[in-house]
Amino acid sequence: MTLSTAEAGVREAALEDGVVSAVLAGGRRVELHQLALRDLCPCPECRHPVSGQRLFESARVLSDTRANAVAVSDEGTLLLEWEDGHRSIFTPDVLAEVTHARPAAPKPVVWSAPLGRTPPRHDWEAVATDAFALRAWLRDAAALGFTLLSGVPVDPGSVAEVAQRFGAVRETNYGRVFDVRVDVGATNLADTALPLSPHTDNPYRRPTPTLQLLHCLASEVGGGETVLVDGFAVVERLRRDSPDRLALLARTSIRYAYRDADAELATDVSVVTLDADGSPVALHLNNRSKGVPVGTPELVADWYDAYLALLALVDDPVQQVAFRLEPGDLVLFDNERILHGRTGFSSAGARHLQGCYADRDGLLSTLAVLER
Ligand code: OGA
Ligand code: ZN
Ligand code: ZN
Repeated sequence: MTLSTAEAGVREAALEDGVVSAVLAGGRRVELHQLALRDLCPCPECRHPVSGQRLFESARVLSDTRANAVAVSDEGTLLLEWEDGHRSIFTPDVLAEVTHARPAAPKPVVWSAPLGRTPPRHDWEAVATDAFALRAWLRDAAALGFTLLSGVPVDPGSVAEVAQRFGAVRETNYGRVFDVRVDVGATNLADTALPLSPHTDNPYRRPTPTLQLLHCLASEVGGGETVLVDGFAVVERLRRDSPDRLALLARTSIRYAYRDADAELATDVSVVTLDADGSPVALHLNNRSKGVPVGTPELVADWYDAYLALLALVDDPVQQVAFRLEPGDLVLFDNERILHGRTGFSSAGARHLQGCYADRDGLLSTLAVLER
């Protein structure tokens, strides 16, 4: 339920069996349980006046609490009196919090090729120096799951400076910053000229790095185009086409693994993770490091049927946006939502990308502070 603060003012309220039913200023009726209300009491005895953090232990107070009476003030404030004499005052502002009026994070705007034809592009010079430009860039990243930056200095390590504009670099076994270029001794197909089908990086890590940045330092080859797919859009399509297949992918773990001389990583995770409402929250999909599901032959057959149906949607050009990264371009994307890949390229001439990982929560925090 979402309510604005204005709507969250209370017109009338009644208490029955520990539940407050309130008619809000906007006309909507909400039911609020006494335990949630007592837990969120904003009075100075219950909340630290500076930090706003809870001062009492819920485990102590809630095991033995009961609302006695409810009243409504002229200003639309909800007043509660508790059996032990404690009193709580819920202003419309606080009530908006009780009802989760404000979403915890910006809602994803799922996209397919038509929107992707003009991928949002921002300018590093502006983003680096101007808070409004920074906010616009982060907003696009949060909503669409990816954005492009132009004008990032073609210097090794620039990619980490871009990440530090909103958060911290997440270091992995590939280093703080990693290079993507043809390497004859490649331990990862990324370091060959082969195409890479759309994937998420590091599915064998828990937690998986949630953001990835790729910065182009050189691009003299034919081919090597970047391809992005909104994994959430694909999941929504699979849900419409065959909800049973989606449910199977969400409840079946497969193993992802990576090993080289210095690293040995493995994680069991489902290809699609759904939240309690059934909305997608993460994809872990990578053809190179993918293992198999384990179970009865029927389960394995059904899983492959569902997995191949998902891949057919990922492969559909309608879901894809493709562009060429030129020197100075940087693409930032949500590594648990946006699948990224590249077309193969001729190994004559140089192609050099530098990448790093970062955390989505750092980006969302910086954005939220800018939007206060
Ligand atoms: C990777 C990768 C993309 C590219 O290294 O995992 O996806 O364009 N590289 O080379
Ligand atoms: Zn209190
Ligand atoms: Zn990758």
